[in-house]
Formats: sequence, C-alpha cells, structure tokens
Amino acid sequence: MSQSQPKAALRPFLPTDTPMLAAIFVAAIEELTGDDYSEAQQEAWAAVADDEVAFGKKLAGELTLIATVQNSPVGFAALKGNDHIDMLYVHPSVAGQGVGAMLCDALEKLAAARGTKSLSVDASDNASDFFKKRGYVAQRRNSVTINDEWLANTTMQKVLANERTGGAPQ
Ligand SMILES: CC(C)(COP(=O)(O)OP(=O)(O)OC[C@H]1O[C@@H](n2cnc3c(N)ncnc32)[C@H](O)[C@@H]1OP(=O)(O)O)[C@@H](O)C(=O)NCCC(=O)NCCS
Repeated sequence: MSQSQPKAALRPFLPTDTPMLAAIFVAAIEELTGDDYSEAQQEAWAAVADDEVAFGKKLAGELTLIATVQNSPVGFAALKGNDHIDMLYVHPSVAGQGVGAMLCDALEKLAAARGTKSLSVDASDNASDFFKKRGYVAQRRNSVTINDEWLANTTMQKVLANERTGGAPQ
C-alpha cells in the first residue's frame, strides 16, 4: 500500500455494517468487473444485495472481516466453513492499494490456525489473477445462475502453510 494512503485496519463484522457492505458490494461489481461481465450480468450479481436482511444474515453466518480506513469500511471478506472464501469485495475508491490482499491474508491465517489445509474460492474472472498471484491454482470452470443471468467463474485452490506447527505446506 502506498505510504501516502491512510493505513487500513481490520475488525469483525457487526450487523449494523450491513448497509455499508451492501454499498461496497454494489460499487465493486459496478466499477471493477465491467471488463469481464456484461451490464446485465453485473446488474444481476449486484442485485444479490437488494435484500439487505438476507445479505446481512449471510455475512453474519460466515466469518466476515471488515477492512476500514479511518474507521470507515472500505472492503470485506467472508470465510465459509473454514475452507472457502465466499466473498471478497473492495470499494473502487481504494482498489489497488493492498486492501484485498490484507483481507485475504487474514482469512488465510485464520483458516490455517483452525487446521484448514487448503482454501478454495470461486473466483470471478476479474479476480482470478489476484488469486493466482497469491498462489491459488485453477481447478475448474463453472457457470452459475444469479437472478436469471449466467456468470462464469473459476474454482481455485491454495494449499496453506500449517500455522499450528509452523511447517511449510510442501
Ligand atoms: C479482486 C479485488 C478484491 C482486489 O482488491 P484490491 O484491494 O484492489 O487488491 P490489492 O490492491 O490488494 O492487490 C493485490 C495484488 O493483486 C493485484 N491485483 C488486484 N486486482 C487485480 C486484478 N483484478 N487483476 C490482476 N491483478 C490484480 C494487484 O496489482 C496487487 O499486486 P502486487 O501485490 O504485485 O502489487 C477487487 O478488485 C474487487 O473487489 N473486485 C470486484 C469484486 C470481485 O470480483 N471480488 C472477488 C469475488 S471472488
């Protein structure tokens, strides 16, 4: 992250964060995914946050971390069942400043500390290079329907270092 930017911090999700995270989710999809998905696909994807009650329930049911800058949420990530990154969204105003990497680092460390050997993610096409850089390896292509639109993604997997023993994965 650039030295001139205020430092990001991490904290756990609180139910009152839901509207702000829904807004980050929508902005990230609208502004960061247009090279890989059509407008109709982006709209269908972003509409997942229209039902804020359901969206908040999903966040509360997973291990959700929030990145903040000067106490304002700028991104979030959610770990499902200790071994799957279910969500990772960064507000476009801070994209490319290391917030996504910070969130992902934290989920990987938490998962490893819980004894998880490998972490998976169904990476959107715009995020697959982000995950590849972090050591995630493509396993298979998927097509999923969201609000009647088909969207492609790639299941990727990373073997984690064992935090309990400090041993390397290989
Ligand atoms: C993917 C996403 C979370 C990345 O967040 P970010 O905060 O911009 O990422 P970072 O700044 O931490 O980037 C870390 C590294 O990945 C690289 N990177 C980030 N986004 C990238 C992209 N879309 N393609 C290729 N490389 C990317 C950065 O250049 C950086 O590389 P470096 O370590 O060599 O400097 C963000 O672009 C986003 O919210 N996208 C839209 C929502 C989405 O698709 N989420 C994933 C769902 S699975």
